[in-house]
Amino acid sequence: MKIQFEKNFWWGTAISGPQSEGIFAKSNLNIMDYWYQQSPEDFHNQMGPEIASDMYHHYNSDIKIMQELNLNSYRTSIQWTRLIKNIKTGEIDQEGYQFYRAYFQKLHDANIKTIVNLYHFDMPIELENIGGWTNKEVVDLYVKYAQIAFECFGDIVDYWATFNEPVVPIEGCYLYQWYYPKIVDFQKGIQAGFNTIVAHAKTVNLFHKMFKHNPNKKITVILNLTPAYPKDQQAENVEAAEIRDLLFNKAFLDTMVLGTFPDKLVELLKQENILPFYTTDEIEAVKDARIDFLGVNYYQPSRIQARTIPWNNNDPIMPAKWFENYQWPERRINPYRGWEIHPQTLYEIGINIKNNYNNIPWIVSENGMGVEDELRYQDSNGQINDNYRIDFIKEHLYWLNQAIKQGSNCFGYQLWTFVDCWSWANSYKNRYGIVSLDLETQTRTIKKSGYWFKEIIENNNVIEIEEGLIK
Ligand code: FCB
Repeated sequence: MKIQFEKNFWWGTAISGPQSEGIFAKSNLNIMDYWYQQSPEDFHNQMGPEIASDMYHHYNSDIKIMQELNLNSYRTSIQWTRLIKNIKTGEIDQEGYQFYRAYFQKLHDANIKTIVNLYHFDMPIELENIGGWTNKEVVDLYVKYAQIAFECFGDIVDYWATFNEPVVPIEGCYLYQWYYPKIVDFQKGIQAGFNTIVAHAKTVNLFHKMFKHNPNKKITVILNLTPAYPKDQQAENVEAAEIRDLLFNKAFLDTMVLGTFPDKLVELLKQENILPFYTTDEIEAVKDARIDFLGVNYYQPSRIQARTIPWNNNDPIMPAKWFENYQWPERRINPYRGWEIHPQTLYEIGINIKNNYNNIPWIVSENGMGVEDELRYQDSNGQINDNYRIDFIKEHLYWLNQAIKQGSNCFGYQLWTFVDCWSWANSYKNRYGIVSLDLETQTRTIKKSGYWFKEIIENNNVIEIEEGLIK
């Protein structure tokens, strides 16, 4: 069977500054850099972010590879800790500025539509030490940093993002101890989440003011959507899934796309006495802020049931008070990452955006597959034959295409990631790239999936999908 995407569809990859550049020449450390200095044993093979994929020194040749592969779009992020020398005053770091200026100019000259994201989990350690997103001073400092970035690069960068997956640092830093400072405090998490939403809104409003005479400049947020499927249609399971959806998806989708706070979520937090501190100005800023398009990272859905063991009210409150994860017997799992593979959810996301979020233009801003020990699949020419990745992409594109056929307004697909990159705590355990990286020599080798990607545009955006692949 064949599917086809429209002529101007964006094909590309996404990556982030802290996961690709290396620490080189940065005047400040972020929480990940600092955490590695303190506890290298927390990281896979004790490998930290110092060198990463050394895009600090390789961006020129990497952009050449993107061109060779016909990629017409890309996303990366600015590291706050690289662009800004004095986090409190906003003094610019000249070396950081020159680096990003040259990098973005090169992408611009190569006609690669680039989304520049401002924040990818990388809180400056100096600000985490004063409470990170729980502290409203950090909101103001973030908006100031965003303004500086717009002033520095707004002439050559058309597409901007405020945050990547804003819920993830909340989960990692304040709920589930994935990331430094590994605090467990739901109330702090709620406050951090609310403040992030306000930082986003103020930045979007500022952006629209700064670029009001230039409709080509657009801003988004990148959300990881994990739609919640109830175990079955029993009322308590449906209710549990609804709460999971409110806390992890709608809290961001509704505020950032529609400018509204879901009533049911507000009610829930009120009952528990954990509403965040807010001002009416902040609520107004959220109401006014409208993104121009939406970025969706999709990896997996969530499977939810009501609690099977009653919650002990003497325990400090956590989201788990209202639901439990459920193992769907039919699930397919990526064993290396432990994430479910369910491409059809991408269709449902597309229809949800169409029906409930004003059919806003959107892009798949991340999707992809991390695989351990990929050298197993290397052939005698040194190329990795990652047929599993090609199949994974095809399945997702099939369902995305179905949503587009039903009228969902998706204009592109970016794979995570371009060249194998460093992951939070997992380091280089799982490889995601369409270009492989030799960690000893920093040599890049295009994988089979890279060449497959290259052919999409050559084939007029037509993709052949084998019978039997779509389940
Ligand atoms: C996403 C993150 C990205 C990367 C992928 C695998 O949640 O946005 O930084 O680590 O997962």
